[in-house]
Amino acid sequence: MADVKTATLPSPFAIHIFVCTNSRTATGSDRERKSCGPLGGEKLRSDLKDWIKKEGLSTPRCRIRVNSSGCLDFCEQGVAVAAYPQGEFVLKATPGSLEEIKQKVRGWVDELTR
Ligand code: FES
Repeated sequence: MADVKTATLPSPFAIHIFVCTNSRTATGSDRERKSCGPLGGEKLRSDLKDWIKKEGLSTPRCRIRVNSSGCLDFCEQGVAVAAYPQGEFVLKATPGSLEEIKQKVRGWVDELTR
């Protein structure tokens, strides 16, 4: 058995956003399912990250992290975006959904920094 250590730690991020950028291969067993990468997941992740940086929204008091994620199992809905600990999902997203996601992020930041 591997010598693995586990610990429960508080998240260092007030808002941790995961944007699915998964791209299925043409030969995979689930190749018939849609995947978020070809639907614009990487552009959405990149644009969201750039905006947060440009706006200076991530601060020591309210750290925000945007990560790529693998499949979040909402593949049939368009690009899937999840935010923790808010526990909110944005489904059926496209790169054009950036404005809607920005509003959500701004709302969370406002709430956390009041
Ligand atoms: S490929 Fe993105 S949710 Fe499944």
